[in-house]
Amino acid sequence: MRSSLIRPLVQQLHAYVPGEQPKIKGLIKLNTNENPYPPSPRVLKAVKAAVDGRLRLYPNPTAQALREKLAKLHGCGPENVIVGNGSDEVLIMAVRAFVEPTVGLASRLSPSKKGKKLEPGRMPVLCKSDSIVQYFAPSYSLYPVLADIHGAARNPVPLNANFTMPSVPELKCGGLWDFNAALTLITTPNAPSGRGYATAELEKLCRATKGVVVLDEAYVDFARENAMKLALKYPHVLVARTFSKAYSLCFQRVGYFVGHPELIAALDKIRDSYNVNGLGQVAAVATLEDLKYYRANFRKIISTREKLSRALTLLGFRVLPSQTNFILAKPPGSVLPASRRQDAGGTLTAKDWLQKLREKKILVRWFSQPEVKDYLRITIGTPAEAEALVKAVKVILR
Ligand SMILES: Cc1ncc(COP(=O)(O)O)c(C=O)c1O
Repeated sequence: MRSSLIRPLVQQLHAYVPGEQPKIKGLIKLNTNENPYPPSPRVLKAVKAAVDGRLRLYPNPTAQALREKLAKLHGCGPENVIVGNGSDEVLIMAVRAFVEPTVGLASRLSPSKKGKKLEPGRMPVLCKSDSIVQYFAPSYSLYPVLADIHGAARNPVPLNANFTMPSVPELKCGGLWDFNAALTLITTPNAPSGRGYATAELEKLCRATKGVVVLDEAYVDFARENAMKLALKYPHVLVARTFSKAYSLCFQRVGYFVGHPELIAALDKIRDSYNVNGLGQVAAVATLEDLKYYRANFRKIISTREKLSRALTLLGFRVLPSQTNFILAKPPGSVLPASRRQDAGGTLTAKDWLQKLREKKILVRWFSQPEVKDYLRITIGTPAEAEALVKAVKVILR
């Protein structure tokens, strides 16, 4: 037997840690950016109607009907769309399709480097950028894990201190951004900060960056603008969307990319044959037939977000402006030394707040990364849930 059955890369891997899904009665769950409103009645009816003997059959392998509907929605053709088992799946597919693993890279470096000419059919010239997965920090914490799983190199580039995006001249000056990185993943609006980014700024960054750029718009339905037009304008830009957040469909796992047919065809080659389950396809198609219902929910969530942000600000929290269905909020006094926290209206760190709120059956999210460790990320729930949160905060502050 080999000394280990497991690849060294996998042995060393730190797996992605998803938000908790505890089954505690009466818990107000504001930790994983789920939508507080159920899917539309039409979606539930369509899914129920599909649960019969047909479950024995394979689903449509290319999610054809769904891709056609999505194409219509975004003003493109089905060849511009690929669907995945959640947008997480299309993200990992992008890493696999566009990024060279670093492992073995040296041995595959161009013979021309050694003074020999490249023979036809040999690997093309590879350079360090070909192995880079690049993203801003902080952003979606899955990106580094995807890079690690693939054996790629990561290039996290810090956002500005207030979580705004550095401009192209700033990135050029900073010297950290790799304008040739094989794959750049941009969470827009940003998670976990909630900040929205202007499409004009994103366009400048896309134009300057030569590898594939994914604009991960998981939360864009809660934002003022979206950048879908860039995916249809530039051959190296993909926009990722999901049915999980705005469309109340986490359970069914449906996400997709829109982009140039050449990129989409490359992704399609490495796709599992039946990657999107049948009920997920049915639910997503029915969702697109009832967008009015969802748009009303976006408005409710945005209104609750603004009210909750104001209420927490009045209680001494520093709440960042959000374009998403969550807020990032710094509790009062949480960054002061323990001796001064009492005067500032709080004696607790953000991590303590997580625990205190949990004791009151309210679950929010806390991340240990240095840029965000003083904050809580709070998903926007119903108005009643927001009220319960404010009430609990008042009690804790007392
Ligand atoms: C920025 C971002 N992108 C993608 C996803 C993945 O969503 P899905 O449920 O479609 O896999 C998430 C989920 O939390 C997210 O926060």
